[in-house]
Amino acid sequence: MEYRLVPISDVDFNAYVDSVNEAYSDYFVPLHVSPESMQGLIFREDLDIDRSRVAIDSKGNILGSCMLGIRDNRGWIGVMGVVPEYRRKGIGRVILKSLIENAQQLSLKYLTLEVITQNVGAFDLYQTMGFEKLRTLVIFDRGVMDVSTRVPGEFSVVRGKADDVLQYYDQFHEVENPWQRQKNSLECLMESWSTRLLTSDGSVVGYVGGWFGPERVQVWDAGISPDIDNREEAAQALLASVLQEFPKATSGMLNVGEDDIIVQPMQALGYRQTLRQYEMRLVINEI
Ligand SMILES: CC(C)(COP(=O)(O)OP(=O)(O)OC[C@H]1O[C@@H](n2cnc3c(N)ncnc32)[C@H](O)[C@@H]1OP(=O)(O)O)[C@@H](O)C(=O)NCCC(=O)NCCS
Repeated sequence: MEYRLVPISDVDFNAYVDSVNEAYSDYFVPLHVSPESMQGLIFREDLDIDRSRVAIDSKGNILGSCMLGIRDNRGWIGVMGVVPEYRRKGIGRVILKSLIENAQQLSLKYLTLEVITQNVGAFDLYQTMGFEKLRTLVIFDRGVMDVSTRVPGEFSVVRGKADDVLQYYDQFHEVENPWQRQKNSLECLMESWSTRLLTSDGSVVGYVGGWFGPERVQVWDAGISPDIDNREEAAQALLASVLQEFPKATSGMLNVGEDDIIVQPMQALGYRQTLRQYEMRLVINEI
């Protein structure tokens, strides 16, 4: 099987997008990207198309590809895919190896990625390349149902602005968000967000932000001050108040770390796990 690796920036972008759709045609969840949505992803997730790779055959057909995201000295592997008829020929491994070499050349500290827990083949590939399981990320969903939780007397919920999330993000997250919900990604999404703040004695002690509407409440991020005693109760009250504002909406949140303070409150409010992913890490340079 003859092929070579070239930067994604060297191939026709539409052909690249088509190849991603083909590689994900039999994926665990429906996944389809357009050239526009892929450009959005590249921008939001800091993907470096010069350092990402596609495998092409002698006629220029794209057999597979993978993206490398870079933020300071951290890297992320995403959109890994090989078109079905070329799988199990070692192409995925060769592409991944070349991105790891790129990360080494850039002196990145580590690479992270996410893989759906049922995706045994991809998980094996990552594990044999040295990636180790860090934690499980949960995708939550909630049908339309009543909310009985009330906001305790010491708290109030008020409307906020996207800037508030940026202001409190670092302070209110004791555990790091996965790549696609880190501050850089959220900043690109915030313009269209609604934000609610939880206050106590005039101070902001929590926030929740996302796309809130009468049909869907998609939570993108929530943070609670580590300085208050009843953090889980506070998080539940804040989220409950948003759900009460939109009583006919379904709701969801993507990639919530199992160690995140919001997990128990979400479960108490009737959110169910629909999918789980492993977050994996490969340490490149111990600094
Ligand atoms: C995951 C994927 C990229 C692997 O690409 P590939 O080119 O087939 O992988 P390789 O041939 O390099 O396989 C390398 C190793 O990965 C593991 N592996 C890959 N596919 C596997 C499968 N279906 N079942 C079990 N192990 C598998 C094996 O350890 C394999 O080594 P081996 O063939 O010597 O046993 C490809 O299956 C794919 O595109 N899947 C759909 C999209 C997807 O799931 N992307 C990953 C998202 S996290």
